[in-house]
Amino acid sequence: MLAIDHGYFQGPTTGLERVDITILPLLPYADTLMLTRGILRSVIPPTYTRGIVLRASGGPSILKELSDEEIALDIEDAIRLNAAALAVQVFIGGPYETRTVHNMTRLVDMGMRYGIATLAVTAVGREMVRDARYMRLACRICAELGATYVKTYYVAEGFDTVTASCPVPIVIAGGKKLPENEALEMAHNAVQQGAAGVDMGRNIFQAESPVAMIQAVRKVVHEGASPREAYDFYLSEKERERGKA
Ligand code: 5RP
Repeated sequence: MLAIDHGYFQGPTTGLERVDITILPLLPYADTLMLTRGILRSVIPPTYTRGIVLRASGGPSILKELSDEEIALDIEDAIRLNAAALAVQVFIGGPYETRTVHNMTRLVDMGMRYGIATLAVTAVGREMVRDARYMRLACRICAELGATYVKTYYVAEGFDTVTASCPVPIVIAGGKKLPENEALEMAHNAVQQGAAGVDMGRNIFQAESPVAMIQAVRKVVHEGASPREAYDFYLSEKERERGKA
């Protein structure tokens, strides 16, 4: 999955200022696109026919308490837009924990009526420790309460215990931009330790060559490429892209 929904709380994020220029060339390589209905309607061409995961929660900007979210989408619009899944932040341990859990359970109920999956995104508040213990807690709560699948962060220690204790598939977020070889290694480790895939944003669209990076990530997730193989592929694709410019 390619995540480009960052603008829903942080505005024109680096790399997403011109979605029409930077993201459209990546679409042929994305299995699924995670985005807001605003960008879907205004920028993504109808010729895009792969999966759509619609951002369905929102409210606060980066200037406010991020867990203060509400459901920000009507199920009829999700159907109209042909969403495969609805994405909702769940802030376990956050100031508005209960509300965000209920946002998720309401979306699960709405989605169930029409066969639309729910992706619970475990959002880690500033005050939380990003470790396996926290991720196990957050992912399991989301799964127990009905999420179809869960998006969480990779942790270097004990990520296999997070996937093992979560009965529904897990995909990892990429998080802040890393050097490309490290991001590929993280994706590889996550998949080796039980993740079903990745839902990456910044580590793809902020890469030096986003088109090369998304293909390298595909190699890791779909072809079992090692981090070294994927990085070598990235470097050669990057050169090829540069040659075209
Ligand atoms: C917002 C989200 C983002 O889509 C996602 O976490 C961003 O992906 P990345 O961390 O790889 O940039 O769910 O909270």
